[in-house]
Amino acid sequence: MATMKAIQIQRHGGTEVLEYVDLPRPEVTGNKILVKNHAIGVNFIDIYHRTGLYKVSLPFILGHEGAGVVEFIGEGVTDFAPGDQVVYMASDCYAEYTLVPSSHAFKIPANIKFKEAAAFLLQGLTCWTLVTQSYAVQKGDYVLIHAAAGGCGLLLTQLSKLLGAHVIGTTSNAQKAELAKKAGAEYVINYTTENVVEKVNEITNGLGVHVVYDGVGKDTFEVSLAAARRLGTVISFGNASGLVPPFTIARLADKNLRLMRPSLMNYVTTKEEFQKYTKELFDLIQENKISLLNVQVHKLSDAKKAHEYLESRKTTGKLILELV
Ligand SMILES: NC(=O)c1ccc[n+]([C@@H]2O[C@H](COP(=O)([O-])OP(=O)(O)OC[C@H]3O[C@@H](n4cnc5c(N)ncnc54)[C@H](OP(=O)(O)O)[C@@H]3O)[C@@H](O)[C@H]2O)c1
Repeated sequence: MATMKAIQIQRHGGTEVLEYVDLPRPEVTGNKILVKNHAIGVNFIDIYHRTGLYKVSLPFILGHEGAGVVEFIGEGVTDFAPGDQVVYMASDCYAEYTLVPSSHAFKIPANIKFKEAAAFLLQGLTCWTLVTQSYAVQKGDYVLIHAAAGGCGLLLTQLSKLLGAHVIGTTSNAQKAELAKKAGAEYVINYTTENVVEKVNEITNGLGVHVVYDGVGKDTFEVSLAAARRLGTVISFGNASGLVPPFTIARLADKNLRLMRPSLMNYVTTKEEFQKYTKELFDLIQENKISLLNVQVHKLSDAKKAHEYLESRKTTGKLILELV
């Protein structure tokens, strides 16, 4: 039986539960393709799966995106052939091979490398749907983006700017602030030392922002509600600092706020949705409308290091696990 290397967890916990193991290589069937991975994206959700913040059935191979070469195709597959270079969303991605539903694979345009494709996909789709579907950013909007130098933060900043918004980013240090500015933030607030709501009010003549994109969660949620203007929108899309505590919806009446908690998976559930948004994302990349400002690369066997960096707030931009 063919085997492969993978990062698996047998129990939830710290980075010590990430095991680099030999597992059987998956067999391709039906509408699936078997991809030999070259680059695998690391996302915050991988940390939630490892710690058990989001429960998964164990044992579990982490990871939700990758890029590589199609090795085998199932009997129902018509869109792909062995040798195609693809980027995809699937489960079990921290591995040499991943079984991918062909509905959620996309041929990588010729001028884009595996590493870039994997670095863009999940966070790019998240941010593109956040600025077009969760709240459609309008020209002239004031947009507050927490953790603006993070993987999602840098893409949200670029996309909001592209749509004509004034971006206010928050970061935890000056080096991250510089990067957020490079991505297009007009203003950056250090949310560990400055009063974000006061600063936002200074910038917006006391009105507040049209929309807040909050992937930090527990530590920033109250700030997000306070920084939004009357009739504004708060999009809470993640929990890097912990889950937002239970919340009384009557509080939204203070300013007639809209509050949403979107998940990417519910925007790209069907083949049509995944292909449409992925095509739009890769068009933006090819037109040089968005770029990767920072990508940190680790070996698959060093996934522990990648997790340690990401959860200790030491990273900017995207983390990738590379295989070749
Ligand atoms: N809803 C969805 O479908 C979806 C999809 C993708 C990602 N997300 C969410 O988007 C958020 C960002 O994900 P990402 O992968 O791009 O990560 P990231 O932003 O690159 O990293 C997280 C950043 O959050 C900030 N942060 C603040 N408090 C933190 C804490 N206590 N622990 C760790 N980080 C803290 C840090 O930036 P500073 O040092 O500047 O504070 C850190 O760099 C996550 O919450 C993730 O779950 C959601």
